[in-house]
Amino acid sequence: MTSVLFVCLGNICRSPLAEGIFRRKVQDAGRSDQILIDSAGTGAWHAGNPPDPRSIEIAAAHGIDISSQRARQVTSSDYDRFDYLVAMDADNLANLLSGKGKQHQGIRLLLTNPPADVPDPYYGGPKGFEEVYRLVDGGCDALLTSIRQSR
Ligand code: 4NP
Repeated sequence: MTSVLFVCLGNICRSPLAEGIFRRKVQDAGRSDQILIDSAGTGAWHAGNPPDPRSIEIAAAHGIDISSQRARQVTSSDYDRFDYLVAMDADNLANLLSGKGKQHQGIRLLLTNPPADVPDPYYGGPKGFEEVYRLVDGGCDALLTSIRQSR
């Protein structure tokens, strides 16, 4: 079993989309029984809340239902539970790498080639969510390829 945790700041915009998109790709690849997927935020402000309506909408436009997800904060046990902790931007990455995370070999950015951020869309308009969807979709393809090659 390989386990993947997607991480952003609030766990209501970017990482829920990444969780939903990656889950779909893993299903399509017939690997649902081999890859465990979750998402979390470095902050706790939105804990317990569903994804942002704009993320739910852009996912639904691509046939993916993320409405039953609920936000949670990253916990120290996530470093033990997950093989990969996949950050949406450099701030999330730095946060994950602080403290206990220093030892973890599976902490990485989603967009690695070249290293790039999935921009925080929270304070922007709907175009921002389309861009996030496009970036996350491409990043999830590369991540799945990378995981399959390393197994
Ligand atoms: P996310 O977006 O990290 O992609 O979930 C954000 C959601 C909420 C806030 C910031 C970013 N916030 O400041 O409340």
